[in-house]
Amino acid sequence: MKFTHRRPGDTLILGVESSCDETAFAVVRGDGTVLSNTIASQVELHARYGGVVPEIASRAHLEACVPLYHRSLADAGISMEQVDAIAVTKGPGLLGCLLIGVEFAKTLAFTHEKPLVGVQHVAGHVYSPWLRTDRNAWGQPENRWEPYVALVASGGHSSIILARSPLDLVTLGETIDDAVGEAYDKIGKLLGLPYPGGPAIDRIAAQGNPSAFRFPLPMLDREGFDFSFSGLKTAVARTIEQEGGPKALAPGRLADICASFQHAAVRILGEKCRRAVSEARLTRLAITGGVACNRGLREALGGMIPGVTIAFPRPEFCTDNAAMIAGLGYHALAAGLRDDLDMNADPSLPVNAGSATPG
Ligand code: KG4
Ligand code: ZN
Repeated sequence: MKFTHRRPGDTLILGVESSCDETAFAVVRGDGTVLSNTIASQVELHARYGGVVPEIASRAHLEACVPLYHRSLADAGISMEQVDAIAVTKGPGLLGCLLIGVEFAKTLAFTHEKPLVGVQHVAGHVYSPWLRTDRNAWGQPENRWEPYVALVASGGHSSIILARSPLDLVTLGETIDDAVGEAYDKIGKLLGLPYPGGPAIDRIAAQGNPSAFRFPLPMLDREGFDFSFSGLKTAVARTIEQEGGPKALAPGRLADICASFQHAAVRILGEKCRRAVSEARLTRLAITGGVACNRGLREALGGMIPGVTIAFPRPEFCTDNAAMIAGLGYHALAAGLRDDLDMNADPSLPVNAGSATPG
């Protein structure tokens, strides 16, 4: 199906996201206005295993798709006939999970004769500050594009990306080992905290002393924008062991460990972001991905990077969602990109290759 280009504000895109442990559908206008954003989180299903179990995740996506699809249309107050195109996360992610969303989106595109476009998940996070309810995350009532640097910090990704346009992204740096959210989740597990560890550590850190333990700041002494979090994680693990294990920790001591780890993570992320905006000679920075919900990060960054406008998208646009996929999908379609019904999921799709098929 051909995509008929209308004014962005008149164009309705249905977004579908299933790359990890959240099934999500959304309806977004081409100008970034979010009409609906529905999410079924599987956190409780995976909590007892302390991490995402791919087979369980795929089955849960399958069950969630039909009800969420109907709810996203109902919440937006539209019918499928009014949708102009469908955008779906094509990768990266867990193959079995991606396939559920991709096949569902293809079926919708086929039965309703709608154009289809595959979107790269990390590029979706980079786009997220442009999603609007009344304003976008820059505080603008209407999107006025300007290049910026985006930090994508989640359970699966830690990247610093230069966004020259919605589809023209350059990765400046990324983690060479664990993602920052992964480090949070692993430390949370070592501390005996509920899964996922990120929000729990963030909450407890607020009661602790960030200078109680001096944890290493890997890669900060090196040039470039790559991160490493595995050394920091190991140092925290050793401290927990030295303290006699998680059960031996008094609440104050637990809070001190959380606060000191969070302080180190925020220093690493903040300093690399500061260098990236400075080197790119830009004055805009967006903090995206699940870890962007972190209170410590939100509080500290402004002071660390003066003179830079920092966008923190609303928490529901930071964690995995389909609004960012629909919003970026519009730009792909408007640029003449689209996918056919033989589109396949790609678990290791690179950031600049959302939809490579000229339409
Ligand atoms: O973007 P997301 O929903 O999924 C991925 O694409 O990975 O991010 C989930 C990650 C988890 O690692 C979770 O622990 C982390 O984001 N996270 C946080 C916070 N809220 C979520 N990490 C630190 N502080 C938080 N408040
Ligand atoms: Zn994500």
